[in-house]
Amino acid sequence: MQGHSTYEPKPGVAKWFEDRLPIVGLIHSSAVAYPVPRNLNYLWTFGGILTFMLVAQILTGVVLVMHYTPHASLAFESVEKIMRDVNYGWLLRYLHANGASMFFIAVYIHIFRGMYYGSYKAPREILWILGVLIFLLMMATAFMGYVLPWGSDVVLGRDRPSPTCSPPFPWSARRW
Ligand code: HEM
Repeated sequence: MQGHSTYEPKPGVAKWFEDRLPIVGLIHSSAVAYPVPRNLNYLWTFGGILTFMLVAQILTGVVLVMHYTPHASLAFESVEKIMRDVNYGWLLRYLHANGASMFFIAVYIHIFRGMYYGSYKAPREILWILGVLIFLLMMATAFMGYVLPWGSDVVLGRDRPSPTCSPPFPWSARRW
């Protein structure tokens, strides 16, 4: 909010209310009359898009983990259960998995916007460095999520009737 609100309600009731609880003025000054640089374009919406996507990833991830089993020989089956038995589990999983890819597409657009328009330049370097740290965290998180559904089938890349009937270690694999 920039200084005092310029919002002036016309009807008497609204004025009475605003004098006591200036909440509409607060919304007006921060969402309607908020001054922004003239040169901003739709590429500046990606920060907000990323915020939304982060929340979506966290919410779908929290529900997925309620049904996931973090055990080398049970993980794959629990993912199958999510896909087949959990109500809308398939939807949650695809939202989360494809959401992760979309998240990266959005962050690349966000980063290239920053590079193209020079958002990294002085005196904004620390903001940029924080962005790079966020990007590193994103890659680490995405990698950890990507390996979660790896049952022994996926790890060993072989074709067996059940993912749990042999040890999940590469050196124990029978390869044919
Ligand atoms: C989860 C990831 C991220 C989220 C949620 C996020 C969120 C935001 C938001 C809401 C804004 C303000 C609106 C806008 O300019 O788009 C912003 C601006 C900015 N972000 Fe990010 N960001 C993320 C990742 C990054 C990364 C990876 C970088 C750079 C490596 C970065 C660098 C910047 C910069 C430099 C600005 C200022 C742009 C300007 O004022 O011209 N951000 N970010």
